Amino acid sequence: MGPGMKPTLHSSARACGKIIVTGEHAVVYGCPALAAGLPDGLTLHAEPLEDSRAPVRLTVEAWDLDVELHPGNEHPVAAAAMAVLGFCDGPLQGWGIRGETRLPSRAGLGSSAALTVALARLAAGQDAPVGTIVEASLCGERVFHGEPSGIDSEVAARGGLVRFVRGRSIEPIPLRNPLPLCIVPSNQPRSTADQVAKVRHRYDRWTKPTRHILDAFSAASEAAENAINGNKLNDLGEIMDMVHGLLVAVGVSSPILDALCSAAREHGARGAKLTGAGGGGCILALPADDPNPLLTALRTEGWAPLSVDVAL
Ligand code: MEV
Repeated sequence: MGPGMKPTLHSSARACGKIIVTGEHAVVYGCPALAAGLPDGLTLHAEPLEDSRAPVRLTVEAWDLDVELHPGNEHPVAAAAMAVLGFCDGPLQGWGIRGETRLPSRAGLGSSAALTVALARLAAGQDAPVGTIVEASLCGERVFHGEPSGIDSEVAARGGLVRFVRGRSIEPIPLRNPLPLCIVPSNQPRSTADQVAKVRHRYDRWTKPTRHILDAFSAASEAAENAINGNKLNDLGEIMDMVHGLLVAVGVSSPILDALCSAAREHGARGAKLTGAGGGGCILALPADDPNPLLTALRTEGWAPLSVDVAL
């Protein structure tokens, strides 16, 4: 920003939600992970406030979120939002920001990364370089999650299906056909930071066996990528089942997530696993060619599955 210029915001900005197909948690330790963007995760709209000196007010009705951005506010969203706007030289006064989303918050679908990416874009512009937006998003993600691997921010900013290795590479995986997936929220909120700490504890206490499990995660991500490239959906489903087993082994599943995965498989899914940090949040199921029996059966059991097509 030039000298004397007043920081401003663009009128709207968007970011994707995310699902992790394979490799959550292992990605923190440098293993590859596959993840995909959920289009239209979050849209933020900004409007000047009448009082140009009033603190920025951020509201997302769907998340019961209404916070003012000032240093005395200890709400983690306020602190994270100020970190992002600070990085982008954005304003901390005189603006109202309103979010529209269908993503549940704290459910493993990347709501915090969507928020920090969209905020960065409000300040820097929807077309700002992705690398800058990811860096800005990470300033906020560190407030929420400590030392995140960065996968959520990358996917929220880029969308599509990607292969990610922490600190090394992010590569789009071209899809010949859209990948149909079914997300089932368990309605149990959880904290990513707590789940990551749980795995760290297991790694520190049982380093050798955990290292073997991490190697299995890496091999599973490679096999999943091959299955996607070859359009072998039954193979992909089987690998997702195995990855769920590995996530159980590092301690991040829960009885309800295990039960949801079993229910999805029983009702015809090719495979199912928890997605994201676990401990609650959502499962991801790969439906058969006709997803309707799975969706209907899950609805009958009282769940609210969401059908998504991951495309380029
Ligand atoms: C959270 O969406 C993904 C984790 O692997 C944490 C991270 O990568 O920072 C659990």
